Amino acid sequence: MRKILITGGAGFIGSHFVDALVDAYPAHRIIVLDKMTYAADINHISAHLEQHRVQLVMGDICDYDICRKLIQDCDLVVHAAAESHVDRSFHSSILFTHTNTLGTHTIMEACRDAQVPRIIHVSTDEVYGEVLSGEVNENGEMNPTNPYSASKAAAEMIVNGYRHSFNLPVVVVRANNVYGIRQFPEKLIPRSIMSLIDGKKIPLHGDGSNVRHYLAAPDFASALVLLAREGKINETYNIGSREEYSNRDVVRMLCEQFNVSFDSSVEFVADRPFNDRRYSISWEKICGLGWKPRHNLRNDIPVVVDWYRKNADSMREKLKELC
Ligand SMILES: NC(=O)c1ccc[n+]([C@@H]2O[C@H](COP(=O)([O-])OP(=O)(O)OC[C@H]3O[C@@H](n4cnc5c(N)ncnc54)[C@H](O)[C@@H]3O)[C@@H](O)[C@H]2O)c1
Repeated sequence: MRKILITGGAGFIGSHFVDALVDAYPAHRIIVLDKMTYAADINHISAHLEQHRVQLVMGDICDYDICRKLIQDCDLVVHAAAESHVDRSFHSSILFTHTNTLGTHTIMEACRDAQVPRIIHVSTDEVYGEVLSGEVNENGEMNPTNPYSASKAAAEMIVNGYRHSFNLPVVVVRANNVYGIRQFPEKLIPRSIMSLIDGKKIPLHGDGSNVRHYLAAPDFASALVLLAREGKINETYNIGSREEYSNRDVVRMLCEQFNVSFDSSVEFVADRPFNDRRYSISWEKICGLGWKPRHNLRNDIPVVVDWYRKNADSMREKLKELC
C-alpha cells in the first residue's frame, strides 16, 4: 500500500488537509506526525482515526530517528508542522526557530535519506514582509519582520539548499492568512468569536488598520492536493484569495453576526513590537493549474461562528490551559 506522511496534521490547516487527502487518495495509508502541542486536537482527525484511514504518531519533527522511520517508503511528504502564532513568537522566539527551522531541516534530511519522490513544504506569505501597495509574486524578495516569519524564511533557505545540493524534489507553498473551523482561539477570528460568545471585549492590536488577505482552510487544502499531483518540482507557489480586509473590517463583520456594535465590543490594546501593515501576493501561477478559491469570508462567518458556539466549552478549556 502507498503511503503519505503529513506533519502537523492534528493542527488547524493540517487537519483540513487530512480531510482532503482522505478523499483524494483513497488507496493510500495516511500518517500524521504531530507533537500534539497546545494547537493540536485529536478531535480534528478522530473520525479518520476511527475509520482507520489515518494513523496518528505523536512525535517531534526535530527527532531525526522518528522522522526517518516514518518517511521510509512515502510517496509524498507534506510538511505543515510549525509554531504558527506571531504574537507568541515575540516571547518564545527560540522555540520558533527550533521547531520551524531545525524541524524543517530534520524533515528535509530524512526525506533526502529516504529518497522521497515528492515533498510539499508549507510556508507563508509572511516571508515577504509587508507589501504596502500592489502585490508580490513568487520571485519577490524575502524580508521577514518577526521571529515567526524569520523562522519560516530560514526554513525555506534550508529547503533551497537541499533543492540545489541534493536535487530534493520539493514544492514550496506560501499562503495568505487562513481561516476556518478548528483554528486555535488565539488568532484574530476565533479569538474575537470567543470574546463575543463570552460577552468580553475583543482585544484589537494598535488601531486595527493592519490589512490581511483571508483564505478559507478548505480552499488551501484543495490547492495543496492539486500541488501534490501537479505542482512543478523546485517551484514555489503563492496561494491566496481576493478577500482583503483590515482587522477592524473583520471584527466589524463578526460584530454584525452577533448583532452587537463594534464600538461597544472592542478594546484597543498595545500593538505588536512590529506589525506588518499589509501582506499581498499574486497567485496567478497556481491559477494556471486550474485552481481558484471558492469560499469568501463574509459567507463563511455564520458557519465558523456556529462551530465555535458548539465547541465553546472545549475552546475555553484550551485557553485556560494556556494561561
Ligand atoms: N494559519 C495561517 O494563517 C497560516 C498561513 C500560511 C501558512 N501557515 C503555515 O501552515 C502550517 C500550519 O499552520 P496552522 O495554522 O495549522 O498551525 P497550528 O498551530 O494550528 O498547527 C500546527 C501543528 O503543528 C504541530 N507541531 C508543532 N510543533 C511540532 C513539532 N515540533 N513536531 C511535530 N508537530 C508539531 C502542532 O501540534 C499542531 O498540530 C504552518 O507551517 C504555518 O506556518 C499558516
